[in-house]
Amino acid sequence: MPNFTRCFPLLADSVKDAVLLLDREGGVLSANRAAEELLGIDRRAPASRRLGEFVDAEPDRMAAILKQWARSNKSTASRLRLRAASGTVSDFQCEGHAILPLPGAERLIFVSCRRTELAGVRFVALGAQVARLEREVRSRRAAEARAVQLNEQLEVRVAERTAELRAANLELEHTVAHLQAAQSELTVQETMASLGRLVAGIAHEVNTPIGVGLLSASHLRDRVLAFQKTYRSGRVHRKDIESFMGSADEASAILLTNIKRASDLIRSFKQVAVDQSSGSWRRYSLHEYIEETLLSLKPQLRGSGHKLEVSVDEGVEIFGNPGVLYQVVSNLVMNSVVHAFDGDRQGTIGVRGWQSDDRVSVEVCDDGGGIREEHLERLFEPFFTTKRGRGGTGLGLHLVHNLVSQQLGGEIRCHSEVGRGTTFEISFPSRIDSREPMRSSLDA
Ligand SMILES: Nc1ncnc2c1ncn2[C@@H]1O[C@H](COP(=O)(O)OP(=O)(O)O)[C@@H](O)[C@H]1O
Ligand SMILES: [Mg+2]
Repeated sequence: MPNFTRCFPLLADSVKDAVLLLDREGGVLSANRAAEELLGIDRRAPASRRLGEFVDAEPDRMAAILKQWARSNKSTASRLRLRAASGTVSDFQCEGHAILPLPGAERLIFVSCRRTELAGVRFVALGAQVARLEREVRSRRAAEARAVQLNEQLEVRVAERTAELRAANLELEHTVAHLQAAQSELTVQETMASLGRLVAGIAHEVNTPIGVGLLSASHLRDRVLAFQKTYRSGRVHRKDIESFMGSADEASAILLTNIKRASDLIRSFKQVAVDQSSGSWRRYSLHEYIEETLLSLKPQLRGSGHKLEVSVDEGVEIFGNPGVLYQVVSNLVMNSVVHAFDGDRQGTIGVRGWQSDDRVSVEVCDDGGGIREEHLERLFEPFFTTKRGRGGTGLGLHLVHNLVSQQLGGEIRCHSEVGRGTTFEISFPSRIDSREPMRSSLDA
């Protein structure tokens, strides 16, 4: 019998219900694990406990139930309220019957307790709730994990983008630096181009008086030789002397005029060239300077066949760097030559200059094709040209704009309408303070 009592827990442990082995008075002989957990019975000393301790029932009713279980080996169910070790009291369906472990031994009671339907339903409801909570916790965890992952991805993406942007920025900086270098090089080229025009102008203009001078010098020499011959023959007549003197007078006058003309031209060109390269400040006459500038452009103007109308007030004096004015006027006039007239059409280019109060105005206009409205606002942008690939750099007006605003301290405006010609008007103070810092033409 004691063996059975000892074996009992081993056999009953696999059962989920709380199972107890009682003596006829309800004393606990043995308990399975479920009963131990539910009721808090110490399996090593179960004998000290009684079923009555755990049952919330009248002692009489308990005694009657025990008696009924002990009487029959057929299971009888009773609904009992059991107090769990945790203190909670719930309804249990307790089924008990008598067992006789060995013939002749004392009867024992086998009781198996299961939560009633009601408790089961509550338990199921609770279980469902727990399951739902668990699900919720799981989905929240998943969402959290997703968020963390997204965050990481986002960080990676942001880092990637930042790196990309930084690289693009760097490239852009390089490009800008490159462009600036190219721009300043081209600006220098543009300046060189006008110097080139200047040299061509000198060569061309000086050519004429020198040519004429040469002609009359050689004519004079011929006359001198002829006269010498006559003189040596000893047959000199009065009319020979008079004719020779007339020719000599004429030839020397022509010679003088032309050499003086050449000398004047060279002097003025030299001045323009020195102004170009030295950037020195001096007092100069607007009239004379524009005349000299246009003189240097004559070869191109003559080649184009356009008419040039110049009207510059005499007596307008400017204190400043005349090389700047040369650049400005020659660029504007050459733009009219190059851009204003299509094909063979010959037009008129006008240059005017005047002073009002202490401001000087210079206007370069043409009656050419004009400039389209969408081009007008881009005119002074560096590299804006409608003659790309055909000699245009798009730096001429950019240079002009910078020279006018930064070196002359003035403004430039352009009025133009398609089909109605173009006018560039610049206005600047007649005295420019040379102490003003000279900024690079690329600063704009
Ligand atoms: N007098 C003008 N008539 C018509 N278009 C002009 C005139 N002056 C300038 N332009 C326009 O302005 C553009 C820019 O001129 P510019 O900066 O000097 O560059 P580029 O002469 O190298 O083309 C020209 O390409 C042309 O389209
Ligand atoms: Mg130009």
